[in-house]
Amino acid sequence: MQQLLKSLGDVTAVIGAQWGDEGKGKLIDLLTPHFDILARASGGANAGHTIVVQGKKHVFHLLPAGSLHEGKTIVLGSGMVIHLPTLLEEIETLKKAGIDVLPRLKISRAAHIVTEEHKERDAALEKAREGGGIGTTKRGIGPAYTDKAARHGKRMESLLGKEVPKEWKEAAELLVPCITDTVSLLHDALAEKKSILIEGAQATLLDIDHGTYPYVTSSSTTAAGALQGLGLSPRALHSCIGVAKAYCTRVGGGPFETEANEVDGNRLRERGGEYGATTGRPRRCGWLSIPDLLFACRINGFTHVNLTKLDVLDEEKEIPVLFQGGMKKLPGWKQSTAGITSFEKLPKEAQSYVKIIEGEINVPVSFIGTGPGREEMIVR
Ligand code: GDP
Ligand code: IMO
Ligand code: MG
Repeated sequence: MQQLLKSLGDVTAVIGAQWGDEGKGKLIDLLTPHFDILARASGGANAGHTIVVQGKKHVFHLLPAGSLHEGKTIVLGSGMVIHLPTLLEEIETLKKAGIDVLPRLKISRAAHIVTEEHKERDAALEKAREGGGIGTTKRGIGPAYTDKAARHGKRMESLLGKEVPKEWKEAAELLVPCITDTVSLLHDALAEKKSILIEGAQATLLDIDHGTYPYVTSSSTTAAGALQGLGLSPRALHSCIGVAKAYCTRVGGGPFETEANEVDGNRLRERGGEYGATTGRPRRCGWLSIPDLLFACRINGFTHVNLTKLDVLDEEKEIPVLFQGGMKKLPGWKQSTAGITSFEKLPKEAQSYVKIIEGEINVPVSFIGTGPGREEMIVR
């Protein structure tokens, strides 16, 4: 594990390969001890990144999922859209758990503010859309990015002025010391040989340019988008870890070629606890798509893949997978893989499931999730 972690280099990004909720949070939490800086680059509180530590669940929306680790600098980058009350709440929740992130929190001056009006507009737009709409998280994300692109959005630097609107006063009092030029901060850190772990939010197939438009989010969710959101050059990235479930889920509307039938979908949902970390909505469940994974590998240049939730497939007799030539069923293993931490200890059908995927995408599956807990991961 140490060797693999060393080989990642100073700047590593963790990027969702499917439609989100792949388990990015858990990998971030696992990698955090090996990095100096944790950075979110884009998106907002539409993200819900879960970690489970000693049986206790923590969900992060705006702060990076490694925030429980003391001593790490936390960066909220320029590409983000920030709902101030949600941020204050997250800071407060951590404080109650004995963790004070404020002294090490750095927020980009250029990040945009999500207002209550954005949230109302998001809900109204969804209501007006035909056929159930996009199924947004109603966190005001689309309208906040709309105002940003229209060049009349409000940025975090607004909190630095003397005349702060009443509703932002409380946030301003707390956050003014955190608001800074995070681009210089990151470049200075790199010059000092510090390391940066970039936490992607949402995922490749939800990307505004490359996803299943219009059933996408309003930001750039890819590795390139993450670098853009932080003001890092494309040459800065040493490693990019794609996170993909061993099957597939999607929340909200839009195409889902490998969506399972109701019986199989319900079984996967119950075994995988597939309910949204942000909205609590049941996630649509289905099977792994190799063509989609290959697409994500191309767009992001994954150097490694983390295949997550392998344990959720433990009861399956056969596992449908979409290959480039069509759907095929791979043999299941019908025994528990929960908590296994070495590849050799996996049943041979599970090993072969991983190896077949690896062979198709030609990227090493270096991390395999076998449970929600921090330590339930095979690293190879
Ligand atoms: P993220 O948005 O990509 O960070 O993922 P979410 O936190 O929204 O959803 C992933 C869910 O799967 C969370 O409830 C995690 O605790 C859980 N999880 C992550 N990895 C594994 C795994 O390998 N096995 C199981 N059973 N659960 C996992
Ligand atoms: P994490 O980071 C899963 C989906 C919503 C909806 C579409 C647009 O936890 O993986 P938005 O509120 O962004 O305008 O919604 O995108 N969506 C996510 N789905 N995980 C996420 O984030 C998501 N963020 C947005 O369900 O379909
Ligand atoms: Mg999530």
